[in-house]
Amino acid sequence: MITAMPLPFAADALVPHLSAESFNYHHGKHFQAYIKTTNDLIAATPAATHDLETIVSDAANAALFNAAGQVWNHGFFWASLSPPTPTRPTGELAAAIDTAFGSFDAMAQAFVAAGTAEFGSGWVWLFSGTDGKLAIAATHDAMPIWAEQPATPLLVCDLWEHAYYLDWRNDRGAFLHAFITSLANWRLAQDQYAIAASDAAGWRYPVEPVPVTA
Ligand code: FE2
Repeated sequence: MITAMPLPFAADALVPHLSAESFNYHHGKHFQAYIKTTNDLIAATPAATHDLETIVSDAANAALFNAAGQVWNHGFFWASLSPPTPTRPTGELAAAIDTAFGSFDAMAQAFVAAGTAEFGSGWVWLFSGTDGKLAIAATHDAMPIWAEQPATPLLVCDLWEHAYYLDWRNDRGAFLHAFITSLANWRLAQDQYAIAASDAAGWRYPVEPVPVTA
């Protein structure tokens, strides 16, 4: 069974960019619905005891892939948001961004452009590919970037309208600009970048400790 990952910050911590009302719907309703659907679909199947990454990778049908993929993507999105500074990467990640994109501002522009160009719903990712080079790409609907190509994600932003409509109405580009310049969790991105260069596993959806029974 998959449990609901709590928001790693207070619902009003990202005001004025994202409101508590927005998180109450996004985390409190949409996210919970994906968890319920996933759990309903894996109940009484071998997948009921699997971790979320395995459930996504081994999903036998589109309904389960979509629900479980959405749980994973949202979990990584909650982790990709951060209320405190720093609002810019440092060290090796900052240097890698300069190498891949030319500058932080050029990377931010490419991130906004990729997310704005994605038709319909999906996700936009900053990730490290197999060659260790940073890249930006959007995925459709519920697709995690690592399920589409070999990649270690550094950050993700939700392109579904439910992610931004209450605060930004139809202005997806302004929401994406706020995300990449003010809200992105560069500590997560730096940790993931370091992991991408090693054999260690990257961010995983949290598994609630199994209660010990007497
Ligand atoms: Fe969402």
